Amino acid sequence: MQTAEGEAHGRDRTAVMSMREVRYLGDPVLREICREVDAVDGEVRALVDDLLETMYAEDGIGLAAPQVGVPMRVFVYDVRDDEIEPGVLVNPRIVEATGQQKEVEGCLSIPGLDEVVERSGRVVVEGLGRDGEPVRIEAEGLLSRCLQHECDHLDGVLFIDRVSPLKRRMLLKKWSKMDESRR
Ligand code: NI
Repeated sequence: MQTAEGEAHGRDRTAVMSMREVRYLGDPVLREICREVDAVDGEVRALVDDLLETMYAEDGIGLAAPQVGVPMRVFVYDVRDDEIEPGVLVNPRIVEATGQQKEVEGCLSIPGLDEVVERSGRVVVEGLGRDGEPVRIEAEGLLSRCLQHECDHLDGVLFIDRVSPLKRRMLLKKWSKMDESRR
């Protein structure tokens, strides 16, 4: 089902969308403080479309521009919940953050690793949408977690930075072993 849908989606959109290569932990672009978008123009919309295409192809629920090598403050998300629309945020800002949640989290840029991360429970995020219109999103649960994770990417922060030093060392050790086996 999923594959068939994915193929149809790809066929319809190949003229305007393309996959971009996902950057992995160790790539310096993931550590950049991304720049604000001055104007949501055709180039930014093309980036957004490519981010969506890549996120769906990689089966992620969120993808930020630096993860495809573009250090701009843009991300897309789709938490695969029928009641929550997929979305795009340009120049996002977390304007409210309350409560707390602890859940397992992973990242397309650190495939194969996951860990429990403490995040705010509820957030309100403001930014611009795909057409440059103002957007305000109130989120709880998985969407809240996803928005916080993607906002972090725009400041060069990864989920492994938000676990204890001991857990981070274990994750990095595991990553370097996986990295060696990839070579
Ligand atoms: Ni990520």
